[in-house]
Amino acid sequence: MTEESALFQTYARYPLALTKGEGSWLWDDKGNKYLDFMSGLAVTNLGHAPKKVADKLKEQIDTLWHTSNLFVVPKQEEAAKKLAEVAQADAVFFCNSGAESNEAAIKLARRYFQKVKGEERYEIITLGKSFHGRTLATLTATGQDKVKEGFLPLPAGFVTVPPHDLKAIEDAITDRTAAVMIEMVQAEGGVYPLDETYARGIEQLCRDKGILLIVDEVQTGMGRTGAWFAHHRYGIKPDIFTVAKGIASGFPAGAMLGRAYLKEAFTAGSHATTFGGTPLASSAILATIETMQEDKLPERAAEIGELLMDQLRRRLKGNPFVKSVRGLGLLVGIECAEPIGELVLEGQKRGLLFVPAGPNVIRLLPNLYVTEDEVEQAVSIVASLIEEKVPTPSAQA
Ligand SMILES: Cc1ncc(COP(=O)(O)O)c(C=O)c1O
Repeated sequence: MTEESALFQTYARYPLALTKGEGSWLWDDKGNKYLDFMSGLAVTNLGHAPKKVADKLKEQIDTLWHTSNLFVVPKQEEAAKKLAEVAQADAVFFCNSGAESNEAAIKLARRYFQKVKGEERYEIITLGKSFHGRTLATLTATGQDKVKEGFLPLPAGFVTVPPHDLKAIEDAITDRTAAVMIEMVQAEGGVYPLDETYARGIEQLCRDKGILLIVDEVQTGMGRTGAWFAHHRYGIKPDIFTVAKGIASGFPAGAMLGRAYLKEAFTAGSHATTFGGTPLASSAILATIETMQEDKLPERAAEIGELLMDQLRRRLKGNPFVKSVRGLGLLVGIECAEPIGELVLEGQKRGLLFVPAGPNVIRLLPNLYVTEDEVEQAVSIVASLIEEKVPTPSAQA
């Protein structure tokens, strides 16, 4: 397949072609069925083909797909109000992806200082192990060297410091610093939830130094971590935060949200994107949020996430292959002693889909409707894979 493909081979694809989905389940082109514990990488938070969203999308498909941001887009206005309400933000800019939402955040921070405050601040401080996207600016912001290889020269204006070291951030702040940008759970970097004291310390530091706090909620947002946004769980109030992945149940969309005082920085003509908040995208966003509200999905993610982590911890306790089980809500990582690439493939053979986060961490991201029974099935498969790797002495089980 790879030899004949007309695609750039930018993905090391698994040998599966998935052709149908319903709820927590996917089917391949040969009719095999899989329990989906990756949700398209934290995207299909409402499961596959969620009916309420599908119905709204069908209605919109028959009415109007795209006009232009040169016109008023009533559905976009509605989606922005709804998103701002659940996210506790004052202003929204719609775009199409996580990287694009982070680009908007970086641009807004720079422009706020340069145009509103009249200060030449532009630098963004980010953390090691972070992931912020694949555009030139966002890969430069990312605290992982592997995404930067072969793409030199990188844009100026980014500094990365080691995570979990407040002093390192403080030392990196200069009169050129515009913002500190963090993920509440470093997801791609290995599922590392930030320590609460550290996270609050970063917020306080930003306030004390008069710089902005940007939180990248692309993977952690939209209920995934047991609250609408992970920073709500931490009791933190960022100046800017970003979202994509789960925002429209699989329809490509993203958004950058900010506080009211930032509105004057993004004036007409300062930033734009053709497809941001089209009538079609906005109806997918609206339907996703309304469904999540109706079914109290963030609360559900908190509860079922506890259950998932609890079951994993009990079953894997004392297993020498497991170094830690950690996460927040339904973003769960099992750090193993060795690379877990083979376990992912073996899991697929046994009908369970999950992904790595870094070489050694098994990442579990079920949809937010996942049932207790499905959690039990997944835990049973994952635990068996691990136990077969290193047989656990019965005394430790
Ligand atoms: C935290 C975070 N930020 C940004 C991105 C980039 O999002 P996208 O692939 O939609 O550009 C990702 C993608 O995995 C992510 O996890």
